Amino acid sequence: MNIGVVGTGYVGLVAGACFAESGNAVVCVDIDTDKVDKLRQGIIPIYEPELPELIERNVRDERLTFSTDLEAAVRKSFILFIAVGTPTTESGAADLTAVFNVARDIGRFMDRYKLVVMKSTVPVGTTERIREIIAGETKQPFDVVSNPEFLKQGAAVEDFMKPDRIVVGADDPRAGKILRDLYAPFVRTGSPVLMMDIRTSELVKYAANAFLAARISFMNEIANVCEEVGADVEMIRKGLASDGRIGPSFLFSGVGFGGSCFPKDIRALVQTAREKNYTMSILEAVGSVNANQAQRFVEKVVKHFSNDLEGKRIAVWGLSFKPRTNDMRDAPSIRIIEALLKEGAMISAYDPEAGDEARKIFGNRIQYATNNYNCLEGADALLVLTEWQVFRNPNFERMKSAMRQPVVFDGRNIFDPAHMRQQGFKYSSIGRP
Ligand SMILES: NC(=O)c1ccc[n+]([C@@H]2O[C@H](COP(=O)([O-])OP(=O)(O)OC[C@H]3O[C@@H](n4cnc5c(N)ncnc54)[C@H](O)[C@@H]3O)[C@@H](O)[C@H]2O)c1
Repeated sequence: MNIGVVGTGYVGLVAGACFAESGNAVVCVDIDTDKVDKLRQGIIPIYEPELPELIERNVRDERLTFSTDLEAAVRKSFILFIAVGTPTTESGAADLTAVFNVARDIGRFMDRYKLVVMKSTVPVGTTERIREIIAGETKQPFDVVSNPEFLKQGAAVEDFMKPDRIVVGADDPRAGKILRDLYAPFVRTGSPVLMMDIRTSELVKYAANAFLAARISFMNEIANVCEEVGADVEMIRKGLASDGRIGPSFLFSGVGFGGSCFPKDIRALVQTAREKNYTMSILEAVGSVNANQAQRFVEKVVKHFSNDLEGKRIAVWGLSFKPRTNDMRDAPSIRIIEALLKEGAMISAYDPEAGDEARKIFGNRIQYATNNYNCLEGADALLVLTEWQVFRNPNFERMKSAMRQPVVFDGRNIFDPAHMRQQGFKYSSIGRP
């Protein structure tokens, strides 16, 4: 099958590489010429485990190519995935400019039947709007289906190769069948391909992200109450996780969620409902609890230094919004570091993969360490903001001898409080005595 994937970001690049891996001929298209040039030279613009090997193999075997030429890609491909970004506008609604531009161009360049697949996360009604836009540009036959993506950054290839489920929203059963066949190699172990109408398919994606974000904010509120009453959120998490109705995922409290999806998708869903005069009270609270969580963490640090951070050296371990990615979009680390800089603190930060992204955000306003130990030189406190595995078992003696004061604020609960005390640290975490 000839496939074109438009938008070569976290979703498009992974989807393109995985479709190539299952034998298809895939062209990944992007307007970012720099990105396409890099990909052609074998340089992968994002950090995502397993992705470099996958791309290398499929490029070598001539199943995967990269291009800026959308016209050629449309003519060559039978299926066209739209996987461009859908960021937030001022109002909180999704910005669909890129999606609509791509749809218009696909329509203009169509020379025979095409199946257009909406992969980006888009508000209800967008896929229908895309059908109208394409129809306004061409007399060729085509179908448009919705196929939202559920991969997680940090495990994107694994998730795409072994999805929990595939969701397809299609009005025409034949169009739906094409996608079902395309995904057959990925669901051989029995994961369902859920066929539904287009509007429902668009909303499933938002509902999934909203639900996961709600679990995190819920646990953060429980953690905050734990701090007030002297209970331990870790044991509460275990108590909940072993309940089959609740399950173990997404129950970790911390400094709040970030990334390019949860914050933006919550705002977009709230906005969709608002346009229909419905207030999503739970989701609005999920967003505000999340904003408070980073603020609460900052307040703990400020209070520790008796409201005077002027000239204090603060070391930060972890900048990406979660481990195993270099992505810093909407990362809690940004909110926390900005707040501490405002208080006059000097920041030295280390992240295994997100250093380059951090430089784009903070420039020379913070220092960048080359490993987690030299990050601690002369530090008055360490803040753990991302739970990278490499931070979990450090040499505590080495840490203490590098730091001016052995103080740790653990925003991800990666250390054991009793052990930290034993090691001689003044240790504070989230929701644990
Ligand atoms: N990142 C995730 O974990 C994830 C998971 C599921 C769904 N999604 C959704 O998938 C979509 C893409 O997300 P992403 O994280 O891959 O975004 P991204 O920002 O990493 O990539 C988007 C790409 O689209 C390109 N682009 C923009 N306009 C274009 C145009 N007119 N023609 C060609 N290319 C264009 C950009 O240059 C960029 O490379 C979003 O709607 C997002 O909500 C993301």
